[in-house]
Order: sequence, then structure tokens, then C-alpha cells
Amino acid sequence: MAASEYRSSAYQALTDRERAERAARSGGEPILEFGDSLTPFVSYVRSDVLLSLQNFRTKSPSEPAFLIATQVMELMFKLGHIEVLQVRDLLDADEIDAALWALRRVRSVQSLLTDVWELLSPLSPADYGEFRDQLGDGSGFQSFAYRQWEFALGNKNAAMARPHAGDRATHGELLRVLSEPSLYDAVIRLLGRNGLPIPADCADRDWAQPYRARPEVEQAWRQVYQERDRYQVLHRLAETLVDVAYEFGKWRATHLLVVERVLGSKPGTGGTSGVDWLRRAAEHRFFPELWSVRGVL
Ligand code: HEM
Repeated sequence: MAASEYRSSAYQALTDRERAERAARSGGEPILEFGDSLTPFVSYVRSDVLLSLQNFRTKSPSEPAFLIATQVMELMFKLGHIEVLQVRDLLDADEIDAALWALRRVRSVQSLLTDVWELLSPLSPADYGEFRDQLGDGSGFQSFAYRQWEFALGNKNAAMARPHAGDRATHGELLRVLSEPSLYDAVIRLLGRNGLPIPADCADRDWAQPYRARPEVEQAWRQVYQERDRYQVLHRLAETLVDVAYEFGKWRATHLLVVERVLGSKPGTGGTSGVDWLRRAAEHRFFPELWSVRGVL
């Protein structure tokens, strides 16, 4: 197709029939001319910007895999965060079926996130050593996308926003997510609206404070599990949430394994003791009463 024939608006709302006619005119061949504009793909995906952000700092053959894997994870943390907020809002609107549907997307994000470690698990200590110094004090610990995703799921810790105080926009965004109800807060309120005995100070609290597991919430889940026929949808929601917590645990456990393989007992670039610190962090479980209830069923 000639450039003159191309309507260069970024968004072309063609009907299926118009597309078929156009494909017939070009003999089924792709559009190759876009005049002076970016292609519509590039202008939508912004791949011109995205693919200009891989600023490798060494000639190490392993650094591209490290940086790109990290960037992919950052994007996935962002997507996970967006999806989790959608689930939370659907639960607040009592649209549990739609929330369960959206949770499938969260699971897909998580499964991809865990798979990304495959790019980094082959790193030997020497490979990592070729570019580690370039990180300076930089560490995934300082990923604000990861913190937003954790806060949105329910692991609130105001201290984790502090490293970002120097970037007002990011810090403000993190504090906003910190002070809103998390997905798990929404789940607990949903239990209350479904007639389960949830204490008032669980259903309405200072959302920025860390969530502390409560025996009353465990008891509510116990009722859901023991009366599965009565609470079918809540039971399905419970097990889907455990899937999410389980997959998050897998991401953390795989991170720990990769770090142990690459770094051994050395401290991290972010200032921690390294694997010992990560091992403790990996013990955290989202939706704690859904784990503890298993011991009383
Ligand atoms: C060879 C690769 C990696 C090594 C050796 C490594 C090492 C570490 C270490 C030692 C810590 C503890 C904090 C510190 O002192 O730095 C940490 C934390 C963390 N890393 Fe990595 N890391 C690697 C790859 C990644 C990647 C690709 C990501 C993705 C963004 C990532 C995300 C995180 C996050 C989110 C934390 C904080 C965990 C928490 O607070 O529970 N790491 N990493």
C-alpha cells in the first residue's frame, strides 16, 4: 500500500468488512508505508522509548539478561498491581464472579514472574561479578513497583516507602496505596457482608498499618471451609487467594535460590546480610488466616 493511501491517524477504526476489502486490495500483503509517522504499533506500545531503556553498563555477556529480566519483572509488578486493584474494587462491589475471573489474570502474571527467574538462574558467581559493582547500592529492595504490588495485596509496611522519599511523585503514589484498603482488607469486609462474624475494627481500620492476623478472621474462614455448600463462592475465592499467596511464595523462594546460587553468603547491594535476610522475608505469607486455618480444619 502506498503512503498516500495510508490514513495516518494513530487510531483507525475500520470495520471488519473494511479491513477485508483493504486486505483484498493489497493482495493480502501487510502495510509497509506509514509516511512520516511512527507505525501505529510503535506509537501505541511506545517501543521506541521502551527499547531505548537498556543502558548496559559493562561488556559482560550476562548483563543484558540481568537488566532485561529485571525490567520485565518491573513491568509485571506494575501489571500485577493494576490487576489486584481491579479485583479489590470488584469485591467491594460484591461482584465475586468477576473478581474470580480477574484473579485468573493475576495468576498468569505471577506464573510469568516466576518463570523470568529462568533467565537469571544460570548466572554463575563470576558472571554476576562482571557487572555487580555497577549496581552500587542498587537493589531490587528499592523497587517501588514491587512495594505497590505488595501493599495492594496486603503486606503493608510504611518503612518500605521511605527509600522513595527523594522522588515526590513515586513516594506520594506509594503512600496512597499504603493508606487504601488492600485486596485482603476488601476480602475481609466481604466476609462480613456475607454474614460472617468479622470484628468492626477489622472491617474499618487505619489501612496503612500492617495487617495483624486475627483469631476471629480465622474462625470466619473455618466456617467457610466447614460449610462449603453454604459458602461455595467464598470457598472458591479462599482457595484462589491461596493460589495467589502460594505463587508469590514461589517467586520469593526462587529469588532466594537464585541469590544463594549467585551470591552465597555475601551481603546484598541493598545493605542486608543477603540470603539470611531474604530467607526471613520469604517466610511472609499473604492472607495469613487462610494459612493458619488449615491447622484447625
Ligand atoms: C542475580 C540476581 C539478584 C540478586 C543476587 C539479588 C539479591 C538480592 C538481595 C541480597 C536482596 C536483599 C536486599 C539487599 O541487600 O540487596 C534482594 C532483595 C530484593 N530483590 Fe533481588 N536479587 C537479584 C535479582 C532480582 C531481580 C531481577 C529482581 C526483580 C526486580 C529482584 C527483586 C528484589 C526485591 C523486590 C527485593 C526485596 C524483597 C523483599 O523486600 O521482600 N531481585 N535481592
